[in-house]
Amino acid sequence: MDVWKAVDSFLAETVVHEDDALIKALANSREHGLPDWEVSPPQGQFLYILARMVKARRILELGSLGGYSAIWLARALPPDGRLVSVEYDPLFAQVARENINNAGLSSLVHIIQGDAAVILDELIKNGEPPFDMIFIDADKPNYSLYLSLVLNLARKGTIIFGDNVVRNGGLADANSKDPKVRGVRRYVNDLGTLTNVVTTCLQTVGSKGYDGFTISVVE
Ligand code: DHB
Ligand code: MG
Repeated sequence: MDVWKAVDSFLAETVVHEDDALIKALANSREHGLPDWEVSPPQGQFLYILARMVKARRILELGSLGGYSAIWLARALPPDGRLVSVEYDPLFAQVARENINNAGLSSLVHIIQGDAAVILDELIKNGEPPFDMIFIDADKPNYSLYLSLVLNLARKGTIIFGDNVVRNGGLADANSKDPKVRGVRRYVNDLGTLTNVVTTCLQTVGSKGYDGFTISVVE
C-alpha cells in the first residue's frame, strides 16, 4: 500500500534516522544479491529501543542476513555487551561481517556461520550464559524448533521476539501449503502452550508490507 510507504518515508524524515553505516549495509547487501528481507528502519529503531528498555547486555539473533538488524541491536548494548548472531548462508555471513566491521561494531558482534539448530545445541552444551533478548528471524519453517532450543538459553525475564509471523495474513490460514506460513503457525501455537512464557503478537504495516511479530517474556 502506497500510504504505508508514505508514512514510513515521513518517519524517516522525522524520528527514524538511518545513518551512513546502515545505508551502506543495505547497499552492500544489495550488491551481493542478498534478499531485501531486512527489518524496516522504524522496526530497526523499535528493536534498538526494546533492547534499551530491557537493558540487554547479551542478545542472541537467529538469521543475520546482511547484519542490518544486528547493527541496530548492537548499538543498544553497553561497551562490554555481546550480540551473538547465527547465519546459515556463508555469503550472508560474510556480508554481515563486512557490514558490522564497517559500522565499527565488530568487538560487540559475533557472527557464527552454520545451522542454527546445531549451533544452539553447541551453545547449550558449552554452558553459554542466558541471553536477555532473543531475536528469531531465521528460516520460518524451523521457528518452532528454534523456540524449543532457545528456551535453554533464556532466564526469567528474557524477551523472545519472533519476526515475520503474520505474513500478509497467512498466519490465520489453517489450510496454507506455504512452508513458511505453516512454520510460523506452529511457532505461535507452541508459544501458546508454554505455561512459563507470556506472548502477544502485533500486526504491522509499512514499507515492508503487512506482517507482524510475536513478543514473549519468560516468567
Ligand atoms: C522473509 C524473512 C524475513 O526475515 C523477513 O524479514 C521478510 C521475509 C521471508 O522468508 O520471506
Ligand atoms: Mg525478518
